[in-house]
Amino acid sequence: MSASKTPFLWGAATSHHQVEDDEPSDWADWTRDGSRTIDRSSAGHALGWWSGRAEEDLTLAATLGHDAHRLGLSWARLEPEPGRFDEQAFDRYARLLDHGHGAGLTIMATLLHFTLPRWLAREGACLAPRFPERFARFCDRVARRLGDRIDLVATINEPSVLAFMAYAGKRWPPGLGRIDAFFRALAQLLRAHAAGYAALRDARPDTEAGIVLNAPRFEPASDRRRDQLAAHLQDRFFNALVLDALTTRAARMRGVVGPLRGEVLPHIPGLRGSFRWLGLNYYGRYRVRFDLGAAGTLFGAHETTHNVRMGHAEGSTDWGELHADGLRDQLLRFAAASPGTPLYVTENGVMDPTDRVRVLELERHVSAVGEAIARGALVRGYFHWSLLDNFEWAEGWQAPFGLVAVDRASGVRTPKPSALRYRELIAAARARHSGGAP
Ligand code: BGC
Repeated sequence: MSASKTPFLWGAATSHHQVEDDEPSDWADWTRDGSRTIDRSSAGHALGWWSGRAEEDLTLAATLGHDAHRLGLSWARLEPEPGRFDEQAFDRYARLLDHGHGAGLTIMATLLHFTLPRWLAREGACLAPRFPERFARFCDRVARRLGDRIDLVATINEPSVLAFMAYAGKRWPPGLGRIDAFFRALAQLLRAHAAGYAALRDARPDTEAGIVLNAPRFEPASDRRRDQLAAHLQDRFFNALVLDALTTRAARMRGVVGPLRGEVLPHIPGLRGSFRWLGLNYYGRYRVRFDLGAAGTLFGAHETTHNVRMGHAEGSTDWGELHADGLRDQLLRFAAASPGTPLYVTENGVMDPTDRVRVLELERHVSAVGEAIARGALVRGYFHWSLLDNFEWAEGWQAPFGLVAVDRASGVRTPKPSALRYRELIAAARARHSGGAP
């Protein structure tokens, strides 16, 4: 796993379940009867990446000016039974990765992007006591089998989001809906990351391994003390808990209110400093208002205008309010938390069926990355979410985030104006700076 070939990487991101056909995972089971997604769909055949379309989409990314791509590897496919690895599945990924490199793309691969093997789901999913150890064994195998074909490895995508949606919440599997499960799942995910990181580096000491964190901005909706406290609490538990545990000695965090009094995240050996780079997924800002009725979200409700979910159905995911300055600020925060660590924007995008908002926001967010760099953040790449309109978890198929539209009946791909604008932004950055940064 060589270090990235170009100083600044430009690309888009995907994840396996969202584009690959028929992934045999917990998500396939969760969505089978259609009752779990807003449009009663499942990923199903998705965008056909597994049966062959990955290659043409990676080629398309390259023709759109990208020099990097972030994708997911399916643990469920690669280890269909505990300890039994599927060599043909490894071969399929090897071909896909070779094709990506052949098209000139630097590859970042994520090893756990929300979905789990069925056998692990039966053992208790992330709360299974042996989950960290099992994830480490998987990481070891990936490093040995595919390590020379992957430039940057992300262990886990967005631990806080997975713990929130699937353990505190009920919309993602296993859907426990318990606040205490949030903290237990988060601790387990961080243990798994630490163990996975060590396994990757043991197997291949040059592995460029990191972790991807989702870090929205939480701001008080007013100057009132209680709104400030509510925003602070959401930021602490969603963002700071994980960032601090990874970067400082203060891995032991203490809760401050009621049921959260006491230790909420235990000390995790090997966690601090367990990354060669950090990934930031940033979608927007939440303005938080104190609300006694919002116990499940630490007594903070979100006041949102100009939502990322442009014109979207009620009851769907709230990705926050579009706010490009927040991307700059979160990059600077990561840079301050871990001076000298290379940072990547591993996801940033807009749920926008019109594509008009995406064009504007792409420009604003790319320039926010430029501002963060100008102020000293070591940002090494930007991956737009997503390359293609794809399966958007509990939203199903009706939440388009792609630079490229897909007609699922015919399979035809059509780059949107935003894809063409992105190509221009990339070309302009390359013309301006030798490293190609914005
Ligand atoms: C996830 C993606 C998802 C995107 C938009 C991120 O939280 O990593 O899988 O599609 O946000 O919701």
